[in-house]
Amino acid sequence: MVTIWVCVGSSCFLRGAPDVIKAFEAEIERRAPRQVELKGTFCQELCTMGVTVRVEGKVFTAVKPDDVPRLFEEEVVPLIEGGCERSCDASLGDS
Ligand code: FES
Repeated sequence: MVTIWVCVGSSCFLRGAPDVIKAFEAEIERRAPRQVELKGTFCQELCTMGVTVRVEGKVFTAVKPDDVPRLFEEEVVPLIEGGCERSCDASLGDS
């Protein structure tokens, strides 16, 4: 299971996190249902660069809904196809 974290802190929320979440939900449903988990997270201290998204250990900033298909293709699909050899269980809750 690959986990995508979308910051839902106040700044990212105002910068469009709900729309980014909807875009990820659509992409997951279309391309990899039951293989990707989408979670919200609190502020990642990158507020001026939000919306902040984390795919396992990698952080992406200024993410817009239009970026989601490319991000999914380039960052999430390889993790699914690779069997998530990296530390897919890395949790933001620990940072
Ligand atoms: S609110 Fe998202 S990084 Fe701070």
